[in-house]
Amino acid sequence: MRKTLLAILTTSSMLAAFSQPSTTGISIIPTPVSLTRGQGYFTLPGAISIETRDQQSLQQTITDLQTHLDAATGRHTLISKPGAPAAAIHLILNKTPDATLGNEGYDLSVTTTGIHIKANKPAGIFYGAQTLLQLFPKEIESRTAVGGVAWQVPIVTIRDYPRFGWRGLMLDVSRHFFTKQEVKDFIDEMVKYKYNLLHWHLTDDQGWRIEIKALPKLTEVGAWNVKREGRFGGFVAPSPDEPRNYGGFYTQDDIKELIRYAKDRFVDVLPEVDIPGHSLAAIAAYPELSCTEGADKYKVNSGEKFMNWYAGGFSAIIDNTLCPANEKVYPFLDKVFTEVAALFPFEYIHVGGDECAKNFWEKSDAVRQLMQKEGLKNMQEVQSYFEKKVEKIVESKGKKVIGWDEILEGGLAPNAAVMSWRGIKGGIEAAKMGHQVVMSPTTFVYLDYMQGDAIIEPPVYATLRLNTAYSFEPVPDGVDPSLIKGGQANLWTEQVYNTRHLQYMVWPRSLAVAECLWSPKEKKNWNDFVRRTEATFQRMDIQQVKYARSLYDAGFTAKKDPTAEDSLSIELFTEVPGLDIYYSFDNSNPDNFYPKYTHPLTVPKDADMLKVITYRDGKPLGRQLDMPINELRHRAGVKNKPVPPID
Ligand code: ACM
Repeated sequence: MRKTLLAILTTSSMLAAFSQPSTTGISIIPTPVSLTRGQGYFTLPGAISIETRDQQSLQQTITDLQTHLDAATGRHTLISKPGAPAAAIHLILNKTPDATLGNEGYDLSVTTTGIHIKANKPAGIFYGAQTLLQLFPKEIESRTAVGGVAWQVPIVTIRDYPRFGWRGLMLDVSRHFFTKQEVKDFIDEMVKYKYNLLHWHLTDDQGWRIEIKALPKLTEVGAWNVKREGRFGGFVAPSPDEPRNYGGFYTQDDIKELIRYAKDRFVDVLPEVDIPGHSLAAIAAYPELSCTEGADKYKVNSGEKFMNWYAGGFSAIIDNTLCPANEKVYPFLDKVFTEVAALFPFEYIHVGGDECAKNFWEKSDAVRQLMQKEGLKNMQEVQSYFEKKVEKIVESKGKKVIGWDEILEGGLAPNAAVMSWRGIKGGIEAAKMGHQVVMSPTTFVYLDYMQGDAIIEPPVYATLRLNTAYSFEPVPDGVDPSLIKGGQANLWTEQVYNTRHLQYMVWPRSLAVAECLWSPKEKKNWNDFVRRTEATFQRMDIQQVKYARSLYDAGFTAKKDPTAEDSLSIELFTEVPGLDIYYSFDNSNPDNFYPKYTHPLTVPKDADMLKVITYRDGKPLGRQLDMPINELRHRAGVKNKPVPPID
């Protein structure tokens, strides 16, 4: 009886598997709305061709496909006559729009005779092509011809469209400058995962990066500081004779070129001019914008300390704010926003508003007089007064304002949208007031944070692991979803000096965020995401894009052991399922012949170091982490023990 049942089950599950082949082996990020896999593959013919009736409006997609196909296969992809049935790839703009697909959705069908991508708009065709590239063997990413590859695509039917219209990545080019080409490369990477918005953080204390023709000193003075390396924020203050030749800026022609480059790839560019705080570069160029005496001595920050940060607050050591009571500030901003608005076609301009220290305003007679005149009760209302004036200026240029959630404090400007970064609270509050919101909370999407344990990651003050990024949910309970425009991940670059490290910080967490912003919530699945991320790593290896492998490392949770005084209980964990952790307390380097972690560890009496490493299927996978026991004691709030000297 049991045997018979087993036989029936086996046969029927084999049949099910046969009629519905599994989607394993298909690794699309972000995962599509629906995907049905058929039997077998479509194989590219010797002569590859693309057919479309809309060559002009689909040129970018055609070029993208041709570039990949030609480079990797070593063949030459032709454009067929419109309507030619035998072409390998057909790109079709729907004559009658399909409402479900919207402006960015697509249908992708691969049959044994060819590939069809259909969409209402060119953006949809472009995203369909990104998905198609992920269906090809990974070698499609090669820039040189690869032999011995079966250039096949699995038979599939995909229907796909985004959950959110705002799928952003923020790049801070102020703390460290990234060249025009580097920004283009960043755009090339983001569109692969269907991001459609580049938030360009163009101004800050460390550099003003956008040419404003009416205010030339902004870039003559404000774009340059002193080159330093190490732990940014703690550098020795530059001496007057150190050359200020580190940095750079984008000319207006550069900016136009980048906007065009982004638009061709269906990316909007949101410029940020971060005011009234974070404005030291502007003040160094035009000290008359300050309320503080001595501002004419201020220099663009080079990574030396100039703010005090403490639990629950901060203050400025030198005044890095535009003075809200200074009437020169508003004509200055009018000039800035006139040129910014003329350059950037996107409907919003980001006006910053974050982390504005008020301690110099508190001491300013001009600010006191402004408060009396305008009936402003506190410094939040002073900032709100400033933000409302800024909104009027920006709106007079035909643009809408978006700002960090501090712009809520003291009263939100009437039409402003809010980017919620200090958690989701600001976003909830703004939405409850009927304002548009973009969710960008530190807790889920801050790409400058470390990706694993501080013992091994390049140091930053906080950690955001991949699995936490993957749990990002942009719509909080009880909020009208129509007010949540979407979300974005932010890369602040204080500690990011070059593009290789930029990539390390962006990937794979931005794969996770891409899926949170594009894919249906109910399609998210961590284990499957890890599988697809690992497949994507192989593509990134071929693309020569760097990514963090921190997800493979073990993590530590250290607690006071309640059963023994002065003692520790150490839990080890991994983000990725199915990894084994091996450890040592004897200072030797563990491998898979060492003890395997199965339950919380107590520390041998004399041990001063815990070394751990992860394995999968008998092979080392993560990095070895060497964790001083005293570091764990410190984390758990247990008194340190003296470390024995080495003889
Ligand atoms: C921010 O992270 N200061 C917006």
